[in-house]
Amino acid sequence: MISARDICKSFGGQQVLRKVSLDLLRGEVVAVIGPSGSGKSTFLRCLNHLETIDSGHLEIEGEVLAATDAAGVCSYVPEAQIRRIGRKMGMVFQSFNLFPHLTVLENVIEAPMVVKGLARAQIVPRAEALLAKVGLLEKRDSYPARLSGGQKQRVAIARALAMEPDILLFDEPTSALDPELTGEVLRTMRELAQEHMTMLVVTHEMGFAREVANRVAFMDRGELIESGPAAQFFAQPKHPRTQAFLHNML
Ligand SMILES: Nc1ncnc2c1ncn2[C@@H]1O[C@H](COP(=O)(O)OP(=O)(O)O)[C@@H](O)[C@H]1O
Ligand SMILES: [Mg+2]
Repeated sequence: MISARDICKSFGGQQVLRKVSLDLLRGEVVAVIGPSGSGKSTFLRCLNHLETIDSGHLEIEGEVLAATDAAGVCSYVPEAQIRRIGRKMGMVFQSFNLFPHLTVLENVIEAPMVVKGLARAQIVPRAEALLAKVGLLEKRDSYPARLSGGQKQRVAIARALAMEPDILLFDEPTSALDPELTGEVLRTMRELAQEHMTMLVVTHEMGFAREVANRVAFMDRGELIESGPAAQFFAQPKHPRTQAFLHNML
């Protein structure tokens, strides 16, 4: 579903991604872990075209998004194609990013109406079904300010799903939550995994990575150090930097 090869990205003079390569297969859940500042968010943002890459090769569902030629020149496909490919992916952010002036239901139907041009009558039943799925149908007419962090994040997940993405990208979806609220969000994500949603999840939740992810990838200082099946990754990390990180985390 995603093929990222040798992705490089710098901000100013600072190289933030150093030849990062990662594949995401259909129905797979991959957790990306690593210390703060290692480039995890930047990598996700490059996949979703919230950032442009400097070099490397990016394919989403077999369609090239960006490629680098032998001379090292990186080019993107035309804008309309970028937008179309981008719609295959939904993103859930640490800070929820809900529209504060819209109700829960309006938050969920906004993008399908504006971006996909769907009629309100067409999308509302689907939005209500998604709110029921994340356990928040009774909050459909509430404003985000009246919700807990865990509820906001579940609305954000419903909102992402309303666009019917093939892939969901999560950037530390529980990091802004009080510990007692992370469980409800992780439970929703676990259910999506059981339904074989393809997900790439940047997370500090080692329990979630171990139990839900098929594969775990470790990033440090802009490099993807190692990745492997979750059980093997946690039981026998190969690289000393992975071992040190896990030693501190677990
Ligand atoms: N828009 C930006 N401009 C300049 N530097 C940035 C920008 N975004 C991220 N960085 C830098 O890139 C590095 C990696 O950041 P980030 O991808 O957010 O790491 P992580 O998500 O692993 O904590 C950090 O040093 C950060 O300061
Ligand atoms: Mg980050």
